[in-house]
Amino acid sequence: VPPPPPGPPSFTGAKLVDDRDHPWRAPQRGDQRGPCPGLNTLASHGYLPRNGVATPTQIIKAVQEGFNFDNSAARFAVYAALLGNGNVVTDLLSIGGKTRLTGPDPPAPAIVGGLNNHGTFEGDVSLTRGDAFFGDNHSFNETLWDQFVDFSNRFGNGFYNITVASELRFHRIQQSIAENPQFTMLGLRHISAYGEAALPVNLFVDGRKTGSEKGQLDLESARSFFKEMRYPKGFFRAAQPGGGEGSEVIFLSHPTSPGRNNATVNSFVVDDSLGSILDPCKVYTEFVNTTVLGLYPSPTGVLRRNLDIDLGFLYDAFGSGLPNCPQVFPYGRA
Ligand code: HEM
Ligand code: MG
Repeated sequence: VPPPPPGPPSFTGAKLVDDRDHPWRAPQRGDQRGPCPGLNTLASHGYLPRNGVATPTQIIKAVQEGFNFDNSAARFAVYAALLGNGNVVTDLLSIGGKTRLTGPDPPAPAIVGGLNNHGTFEGDVSLTRGDAFFGDNHSFNETLWDQFVDFSNRFGNGFYNITVASELRFHRIQQSIAENPQFTMLGLRHISAYGEAALPVNLFVDGRKTGSEKGQLDLESARSFFKEMRYPKGFFRAAQPGGGEGSEVIFLSHPTSPGRNNATVNSFVVDDSLGSILDPCKVYTEFVNTTVLGLYPSPTGVLRRNLDIDLGFLYDAFGSGLPNCPQVFPYGRA
């Protein structure tokens, strides 16, 4: 039976996390790494199993300990990831590609593709990873990095901050509309694209920084996380629990609609069928009724039981806090 997620830790201040108990080691053959620089870093320092396959409980503890990621944001992200990309029977998720290490797959159309799977959680317009259409949606992309640096120089005086995040987030969307005929940004991705642009500002900046240095991510540290999957030497985690704070500022500076290109470049059409950042309850409801139900149309036995339990954990973290957002039960009430 999937255990309930851990709560917040008792100490939530800054502390050394690049410590002697968590030495960096390069991933070995077969170790999974993927589109999330936060989880990649935690695996390469041993906060997560170094093979990149972990349970929700392990992931929540690791992101809290290693980055001071906020408990409810961690629960939301991890259950969305498990339900979209993990094995709910074995309670294991790959932070990279598909692997036998997550155990026997439930029947198709279940994918259990790990975080690299395109369209469940991973999506287009990532800051340092290419769109799936161009062939690699998970590896560090040197060309996109150059653009990250350029924007940080032009809008952040050599640092990545909320202003840079606002400009680069909008630019990446315009870029995909102009270059990727299969561009999509729907539902959960319309929220996560903005949240992920804020995460480096809140969680990749050393927790000892104060005053004008707070919220300013230097490019050497940024590259260490995004490319090397490694803490900057002697890194302290954030001084308070955080996550996507500021994503509303990023969105409001250049608001966009969820939508897609219509099989050719520059053919953007609005599509809010899976919700939007302005309608998070619909994102929750459609994630369950479209994404999860699409992967698991008629589950039985332990699979069905665990889906019900994990959907409850997802609702506790995401839907329950939203106004007028009742829990949905795609398989009926137990
Ligand atoms: C991106 C999952 C925690 C920082 C992503 C993506 C996934 C993901 C699937 C790819 C989305 C995309 O860009 O297409 C998760 C899960 C987490 C988690 C399941 C567990 C709770 C964290 C933490 C941090 C972080 C703790 C920072 C300390 C980022 C950043 C990106 C990202 C900055 C965007 C990368 C880019 O645009 O190039 N995450 N993440 N994540 N994640 Fe995480
Ligand atoms: Mg992506």
